[in-house]
Amino acid sequence: MPSTVTVFGAYGHTGRFVVAELVRRGWTPILSGRNESQLHDLAAGYPGLAVRPATVDDPDALDRALAGSVAVINAAGPFGDTVPALVEAALRAGIHYVDVAAEVEVVAKTVATYQDRAAAAGIVLAPAVAFYGGLGDLLASAAVGDLPAVDEIHLAFALDSWIPTPGTRKAGVASRGRRNGKRLVYTGGELVLRDDAAPTAEWTFPAPFGKQTVVGDFTTADSVTIPSHLKTGALHSYMTPDALRDLASTDETPPQPADEFGRSAQQFLVEVVVRAGDTERRAVAAGRDIYAVTAPIVVEVLSHITSGTQAGLHTAGRIADPAEVLRALLPVHLDLLEIDGR
Ligand SMILES: NC(=O)c1ccc[n+]([C@@H]2O[C@H](COP(=O)([O-])OP(=O)(O)OC[C@H]3O[C@@H](n4cnc5c(N)ncnc54)[C@H](OP(=O)(O)O)[C@@H]3O)[C@@H](O)[C@H]2O)c1
Repeated sequence: MPSTVTVFGAYGHTGRFVVAELVRRGWTPILSGRNESQLHDLAAGYPGLAVRPATVDDPDALDRALAGSVAVINAAGPFGDTVPALVEAALRAGIHYVDVAAEVEVVAKTVATYQDRAAAAGIVLAPAVAFYGGLGDLLASAAVGDLPAVDEIHLAFALDSWIPTPGTRKAGVASRGRRNGKRLVYTGGELVLRDDAAPTAEWTFPAPFGKQTVVGDFTTADSVTIPSHLKTGALHSYMTPDALRDLASTDETPPQPADEFGRSAQQFLVEVVVRAGDTERRAVAAGRDIYAVTAPIVVEVLSHITSGTQAGLHTAGRIADPAEVLRALLPVHLDLLEIDGR
């Protein structure tokens, strides 16, 4: 049942999509974040919604921001700066915590740090419930289905462009700082730093992307969320090169709205192939705007969490039937969804 939920980072690019989707689905968001005037500007478009400013170094203000909510959605990143304070506030309040972090090391630390405390507090703690960390995990979980273990999971992203938000740029700077010029690779069941060049591979996506030379070892939050609950011998990830060229651009113009939902024109396609012996299964989803699609993913997962998921730390693919979660995104939020055998 929709209820009251606090959105921290509510006036950010992604936070605004989250607030709009919550309202569309009948939830009552409490608008929180560190800039009071930005919160009031946002609230002007939503008469009646509460504004509760808070900063990560003020636990009392965070407690006030979370009071009366069943959950907090943390959309404020770089997440290395916000996760500890917001998770601690959720634990104090005894309410669920969901974030949209993309920073791989931060998501790995969240998983490693809070598993036991979330379970003991009787709350669900769900990191990276978003395009990265969430959609791939849902597709991989749906494709794996009833297989107890698989030999390989391949996760391939196709983006026709990637105009990053300021938050993505800052998260990139924070991640590069942590990696000391090296690249992060998931291999042998762990994340390691390497200084060799990323490999390339050929991948044939469904139309309109088709056959592409993709960059391998494109390590995302999915390299934490997927192996946190799916047994796989290997996880390989790939990205189309155009998106990486865009990401490296010095043009800081943020994504521009191009439809009635405020989505940009960016097209995405995510394809997962899992192999177990002779069995191969595939799941694919496509849609528009990786920031915008994060909102329905997080709100759909939240609705399952508040309907009675067992307490503990869970990723998007583990919280409910992943195929059901994905199908709920059709037809508005996904243009294409195919899951072998489902
Ligand atoms: N996993 C995914 O697929 C996915 C999808 C979407 C977004 N994200 C991540 O979400 C984050 C936000 O992205 P965005 O697109 O919304 O960027 P954005 O438009 O720049 O918004 C960032 C928001 O976070 C707030 N914030 C940042 N640091 C904060 C801090 N220390 N304390 C309080 N608030 C803070 C900002 O407030 P100020 O304006 O006051 O700084 C702003 O409200 C990024 O890290 C991005 O990578 C991930």
